[in-house]
Amino acid sequence: MSIIKSQIAVPNKRKLFVKSYGCQMNVYDAGRMADVLAPEGYDETNTPEDADLVILNTCHIRERASEKIFSELGKFRDMKLERQALGKETLIAVAGCVAQAEGKEIFRRQKAVDVVVGPQNYHRLPDLLQKARTSGRVIDAEFASEDKFDFLDRPSAEKTRSRGVTSFLTIQEGCDKFCTFCVVPYTRGAEISRSAAKIIAEAKDLASAGVRELTLLGQNVNAYHGQGLDGKIWPFERLAEEIAKIDGISRIRYSTSHPKDMTLGLMRAHRHNPALMPYLHLPVQSGSDKILAAMNRDHTRAHYFDIIDELREGRPDIALSSDFIVGFPGESDEDFADTLSLIEKIKFSAAYSFKYSPRPGTPAAKMNQQIPEVVMAERLSAVQALVEKQRHEFHHAALGHSFDVLFEKPGRKPGQVGGKSPFLHGVHVEGSLDLVGQIRSVEIVASSGTSLEGHLKETQT
Ligand code: SAH
Ligand code: SF4
Ligand code: F3S
Repeated sequence: MSIIKSQIAVPNKRKLFVKSYGCQMNVYDAGRMADVLAPEGYDETNTPEDADLVILNTCHIRERASEKIFSELGKFRDMKLERQALGKETLIAVAGCVAQAEGKEIFRRQKAVDVVVGPQNYHRLPDLLQKARTSGRVIDAEFASEDKFDFLDRPSAEKTRSRGVTSFLTIQEGCDKFCTFCVVPYTRGAEISRSAAKIIAEAKDLASAGVRELTLLGQNVNAYHGQGLDGKIWPFERLAEEIAKIDGISRIRYSTSHPKDMTLGLMRAHRHNPALMPYLHLPVQSGSDKILAAMNRDHTRAHYFDIIDELREGRPDIALSSDFIVGFPGESDEDFADTLSLIEKIKFSAAYSFKYSPRPGTPAAKMNQQIPEVVMAERLSAVQALVEKQRHEFHHAALGHSFDVLFEKPGRKPGQVGGKSPFLHGVHVEGSLDLVGQIRSVEIVASSGTSLEGHLKETQT
């Protein structure tokens, strides 16, 4: 099949379909790509068949995530051919972490792909599409150089896009930690922090569009060290303090944090900054010191417990979640028992767990003592069963309590409206959609184990 170069007249109004995999940053980036493309006449659509441009925003973190991309691309190729027969242009772009890591391979395996663009080059999308139209397929997976910060800055089109009540906001990107299992330092590049001025300007725009809760994003969000409004380098908690002053922003969350960067200042901020929600996602990966060392996590089990103790001293009720990898090379039954005992001891409100997946180019992929699939599967079920039990306990413990709930959208059942407690419980009440955007006190009367139901209390906060 030959590469399709468009000779077809392009209409002013064009449709864009973006499909995102992977982490929250990809979700945020999807919005950013739509913003960059809005001035080119692209409007988002939910139906790929209508799209003049399809972007697959990929994730490279585990093998399964990457492999899915190629079957997905096969479907888009068929669609492109059908539309071509009708005289319609369809460009296919691959973005995200697989684009960064395996751009050439993507071109080799799927000839219908027109553009491959890495996460740091989305601001160049209009140019890349133009090049693809005029001179054939193009790849741009350079890491940011002189325009280092441009890729993190959103275009002004942002102001015109309608938003929900909650929004992501990227404040930091990239990772210098090189955990031995992980591709992120290779796909997202070195750690870069945006300036506080840029972040605050974006936060204000979002607040004026009705956003009340911000989740600040970064692969190492608590390692934030951007230029502050006073010209000094600000740590994360200083930035959070400033964002909390913005009219309309009532809640701040952040993800994902690394234990090593959990400073005393940040832990204390959970006590002093009421906008910082009492919920923290703090991946630990394993409970065994031997495995943590082999993972190059640069912290011990004891250090993790110390962090949790300190956090709970300031906010005894703080909800905690984590990520776990089971079956890392060399993980013995004892090492795995250490992971279970860590979970038992801490009691998480939720956690994600994964079978170790060897990734090309990472040190762990070459380590001896890779763990058999059956063992990984057993360990994964054990972690998941324990975490699920804790998640249910966490939800049942909410019965009879009252929480401030930020209402976001229609609830689970008809006539209900749904939102989140400060601790990130999903809460549903009988009520009208007028509640969306409001924070109201709710008394919890029922728990399904994974979400809560309650009654609105009289007072409005
Ligand atoms: N920056 C975050 C997480 C990044 S990736 C951190 O430092 O923790 C999200 C999660 O995917 C990781 O926390 C880890 O649990 C999982 N993960 C990353 N690489 C993996 C691999 N090769 N196999 C299995 N899980 C992996
Ligand atoms: Fe990956 Fe480790 Fe960096 Fe997290 S800290 S993104 S797990 S290398
Ligand atoms: Fe995946 Fe890249 Fe995020 S590998 S998890 S999309 S940083």
